[in-house]
Amino acid sequence: MTGIALIGLQWGDEGKGKVSAYFSREARLVVRFNGGANAGHTVKLLNRVYRLHIIPAGALTAGRAAVGPGVYVDLELLSRELEEVKEARNGFRLYLSPKAHVVLPIHKHLDGELEKKRPGSAIGTTRRGIGPAAMDKHARLGVRVEDLTMDEQLLKERIKQMIKIHNITWNNLDNIVEKLTSYTHALADTLDDVGLRIRREMEGGGKIVFEGAQGTLLDIDHGTYPYVTSSTTLASAAASGSGVGVKHINKVIGVAKAYATRVGSGPFPTEITGETAELIRGYGGEYGATTGRPRRIGWLDLPLLRYAANLNDAEKIVLTRIDTLECVEKIKVCVCYEVDGRRVEEAQVTSYELMKAQPIYVELGGWRGKVKNWSRVAEEGYGALPREARRYIEFIEEEVGVEISHVSTGPEVGDMVER
Ligand code: IMP
Repeated sequence: MTGIALIGLQWGDEGKGKVSAYFSREARLVVRFNGGANAGHTVKLLNRVYRLHIIPAGALTAGRAAVGPGVYVDLELLSRELEEVKEARNGFRLYLSPKAHVVLPIHKHLDGELEKKRPGSAIGTTRRGIGPAAMDKHARLGVRVEDLTMDEQLLKERIKQMIKIHNITWNNLDNIVEKLTSYTHALADTLDDVGLRIRREMEGGGKIVFEGAQGTLLDIDHGTYPYVTSSTTLASAAASGSGVGVKHINKVIGVAKAYATRVGSGPFPTEITGETAELIRGYGGEYGATTGRPRRIGWLDLPLLRYAANLNDAEKIVLTRIDTLECVEKIKVCVCYEVDGRRVEEAQVTSYELMKAQPIYVELGGWRGKVKNWSRVAEEGYGALPREARRYIEFIEEEVGVEISHVSTGPEVGDMVER
């Protein structure tokens, strides 16, 4: 039995959607277990680009997907995505956990209000209501998918209580309840015990892909707090967020981009601005898949990558965007930090450390103009990569101590070099 967790090792946007679609080709089921519509997983399949937020991107190749109890679900968006994926993939089946929490319009409103109330220290959230939905979940006020099947009057009372506790006024409550009920009808035949389904599939020898959202450095406990998301983004969440025991996650593959990006506020030790940052942003189309915001750009940060790989017990790494990095002449990599005169090889990710971290770089030669056709490189294999790109990959591998098993050479699902 194989349960593969695909986990972002940076600040999200590592290309997990495409990587998941690649690994899900022979999977029985692909599962989302954390986050919500704050995620935007982009994948190009047969020349068409899909941008999914709640249904895992691997759905397009696996043909069957589950949304586990750890996900914050925007039902309107989920209903729309279900139609889109059904159109793209004949016979597509979705399984939605009744335990998943629902993101209400109130949560989206509160997300914006909370951000406004902290000028100077706003998180830069995606405003998809994830933080407030998580607040209500942990305050034991939340509405779960299963609650939507209850009496409408009772549901209205529950939401009224939530509004009262948040001390806000909300005029069109009837409208919220009406809409929720209509989405619930549309999704009724998807409700399922996701954990049980995964166990059955795995007992039958099936491969399951757990598609992580966001990245390790946005984890609520282990990320760059408070500039983090409201979910656990680590491999360990794949079990609880899906409803299976930890033995079901028997392979962890980290996904890392060949450079670094971040959307939203917060520390970013290797951030660069100016011409090179503009070049990479433009060449790589580095704009948020959910909000369209320009992503902040930086060099690969090995102290953070070591931290993330270790925290997740990543067995292997898939390195993405090696094609994008061809736009620069010379490539810098941060090999360690200097903090108060101390050399730090593996970051601890405390605010204190990241505020003081002075990145120490090495510079490696780039591969500008050396590849005419990246898809052909993927077909021909690792040896077809330019010598400088192989040197870069092997340097990262040696420095982090984790095998780079795959290198992504483009947005299409098949643009992948397996070593
Ligand atoms: P929230 O998850 O919308 O509350 O946003 C919290 C922080 O996480 C912000 O900096 C967001 O930009 C960031 N974030 C949330 N989801 C993603 C994602 O899927 N990719 C990249 N950044 C994300």
